[in-house]
Amino acid sequence: MVKLANIFVCNSCGSVHGKWAGRCDDCGGWNTLIEEVPEHSIGSPGKSAKRRTSRRGPGIAYSSLQGDSAPLPRHETGIAEFDRVCGGGIVPGSALLVGGDPGIGKSTLMLQAAAKLSLLGKSVIYISGEESIDQVRSRAKRLGLADAPLQLAAETSLGPILDSLKSERPDLVIMDSMQTLWTDALGAAPGTVAQVRACAQELTRFAKKYGSAVVLIGHVTKDGQIAGPRVVEHMVDAVLYFEGDRAHQFRILRGVKNRFGPTDEIGVFEMGERGLAEVANPSSLFLDGCENGTTGSAVFAGMEGTRPVLTEIQALIAPSPLGTPRRAVVGWDSGRLAMVMAVLEARCGISFAGKDVYLNVAGGLRISEPAADLAVAAALISSAFDQPLPPKTVVFGEIALSGTIRQVSRTSARLKEASKLGFTNAMIAAGDRQHELNTQLECTIANFSKLSNLVGEFEVS
Ligand code: TYD
Ligand code: MG
Repeated sequence: MVKLANIFVCNSCGSVHGKWAGRCDDCGGWNTLIEEVPEHSIGSPGKSAKRRTSRRGPGIAYSSLQGDSAPLPRHETGIAEFDRVCGGGIVPGSALLVGGDPGIGKSTLMLQAAAKLSLLGKSVIYISGEESIDQVRSRAKRLGLADAPLQLAAETSLGPILDSLKSERPDLVIMDSMQTLWTDALGAAPGTVAQVRACAQELTRFAKKYGSAVVLIGHVTKDGQIAGPRVVEHMVDAVLYFEGDRAHQFRILRGVKNRFGPTDEIGVFEMGERGLAEVANPSSLFLDGCENGTTGSAVFAGMEGTRPVLTEIQALIAPSPLGTPRRAVVGWDSGRLAMVMAVLEARCGISFAGKDVYLNVAGGLRISEPAADLAVAAALISSAFDQPLPPKTVVFGEIALSGTIRQVSRTSARLKEASKLGFTNAMIAAGDRQHELNTQLECTIANFSKLSNLVGEFEVS
């Protein structure tokens, strides 16, 4: 038997190299190459590459795009916020990766989902590599789920885990966490890239072959990636991030990859005494404490997936004692803020020279939509002129470098959510569907085609 030479995999980009080097040729990262045993020498050594190349198979069969395929079966947990992010429930035979900072609530969320599913009659196994059985039990008691017919195990070695899973074939397996798993096929320590990769691969293969859904819980590294190379994300069918601010009670489950559903959905939860509670109306949560009549504040009507979410954007412009004034942003892209400020300076004559600019998305939400441009601009203008926006107003629209305001998608959904929450005015881009919107909604809509028109509103009053 020829021993296959070990390979070296880059920790940050996942590229494979034949020999070790201090710097990865592909991504340029230093000290990122880690030794690994080639994939086919794990498990069944010996009968590897040779057989694969010499065997002639019957070839593959083709199908057409037409034809009846049954809709995907789903395991619905009954936690609506979770099911929606998964695309309507967990698909049997799929592998799901749930990532997030330590202590954010991943174990709590998955224990709740697992217990709910087991109460609905599914066979669910929860394997904890981080906590003892007693710890998981006491958590379940606190969550009011002590009666759930869930099967618990505290184990970290992949071999015995796979052996029992193969004989049990449960509907769902939760593995908490991926970083504690290890296989003795590799010499590397648990938690290293090689171990995480190999174990994730074996569990994904098990899911596909036996039709059990597998949820892998993974910790996120300081730079925001699920520990282990990105290759793990490619292996699984869906990647969900559980995020939030420790200072705030709410947590957001965000789909970043999903082979069986949309990826822009979010699920909002609130962490309380008895675990995570669903938040069906996130706008009310994020607008909590938002007052009318304050300067430098604008309410943005945004979209998170299919759902409109209203958030308050706060801006403060203050004289700066520093040679290079500060620009501090929380919850939005700082490059985008620089762009909006540049348009305000160049097209509307508002100068930020010698002034510190602070921008904050209230409640700890992170916004990535360009539609927030106009709300940011409105908050900045309001602070610059020290005048509040008209009461009960929502703002949204994209700003072009020319200073024109562009329409954004889903205008009517955003306006509907706003009027549902008692907003009566909207500042949006000028467009041709105005008549239609006016008749549909009880909102007074102010249209702006140029950013300078919005500035004009403040100069007049
Ligand atoms: P946990 O699910 O252990 O986080 P992770 O698995 O992501 O590391 O959550 C731990 C945090 O959640 C901990 O700081 C306490 C808090 N928590 C509550 O506030 N209420 C609860 O009912 C539970 C179970 C946890
Ligand atoms: Mg945990």
